[in-house]
Amino acid sequence: MQTRSIPLLQLALDYISLPPAIAMAVQVAPHVDVIEIGTPLCKAAGIEAVRAIREVCPDKLILADLKTPDVGGLEAKMAFDAGADMMTVIGGAPMATVESALKVAQQMGKEMLMELTGVRDIIARAKEWKQVGVQRMVYHRGWDEQTFHREWSEDDKHTVRQLIDMGFKVTVTGGITVELLPFFQDLAVSIIIAGRAIHQSKDPAASALEMRSAIARLWGAPQSTASAETAAKAIRWGISEMGLLLTADGRDCPGCDSSQRLCQGSVTTIHCPEGIRVDDLVSAIARLSGPGQAVGRSSGDAFFLDPAQLMDPSPDRVIDLLLATGNAVRQLGYPADVNAGIGVANRILGAA
Ligand code: 5RP
Repeated sequence: MQTRSIPLLQLALDYISLPPAIAMAVQVAPHVDVIEIGTPLCKAAGIEAVRAIREVCPDKLILADLKTPDVGGLEAKMAFDAGADMMTVIGGAPMATVESALKVAQQMGKEMLMELTGVRDIIARAKEWKQVGVQRMVYHRGWDEQTFHREWSEDDKHTVRQLIDMGFKVTVTGGITVELLPFFQDLAVSIIIAGRAIHQSKDPAASALEMRSAIARLWGAPQSTASAETAAKAIRWGISEMGLLLTADGRDCPGCDSSQRLCQGSVTTIHCPEGIRVDDLVSAIARLSGPGQAVGRSSGDAFFLDPAQLMDPSPDRVIDLLLATGNAVRQLGYPADVNAGIGVANRILGAA
């Protein structure tokens, strides 16, 4: 079976001043692939915004969303000189602007993307852009269109599919949330942008992580099934690494791989952190992880996770259960180290 590549996740920094954008970039960068200097930020802080974000994110791909309408070559050069890997030209720009920006991008080993906001005859224009060598485009449900209730539709998908079939690498963007991701799942898009869904959430790092994990699950190769034993081990280690306490005292445990281990079977019982009600925590985890019996209350101060009860016991679903637990605990005020937990669980599931 052919496997598609997993789309990159791009964080759009649509800010009107630089300091909060930098703080957000630092916080979320580990969980995304591309950082976008959003159009409002480019206008508010100028090309210095690109330089500043490059400085705090030296290893990330950076896109300057200039939506350039004219002077394509110069604007592309300004963006790339400041540290951007990609920049955008607005779809309504004359072909001369497209070609100038593209030429600079090619000379500097960078990328230019056509931004399709407001373009009506997308496929006709795409044919022209193809002829001059454009390879990438951004299919966008604009903010103002969203305000006027433009929903994503099957027509959008049809156009995106046509562009992909023409050989373009297509980015999709515009009010994309984790709940919307399945809508795009059957499209081989190369980048998915999320702005407000991440930077306006209560816990932007956790939201980005959740989004990236959902993308990997939805676009990834068909999943194998994790054995109940491996899944339980991943949960136990993941939970401990997050800073939560198992009810079994690990000091006397000979280790997860020993038949004498203290935790037996697939159930892991965990102390509810002080100050959080078990029922609140269990409901929050269930809400985030979806229906099923994989989480429940064990006693007045403990809850359990049982990956054997997952409807689909694939490694990704095990990770989702762990992620839901970490995020729920954080939402209720306990500073769980979700990344550390997910990291160790991924290693256990990946090695199995
Ligand atoms: C606005 C943009 C935004 O960056 C893009 O729409 C992504 O932001 P959000 O996910 O918040 O819609 O280009 O013109």
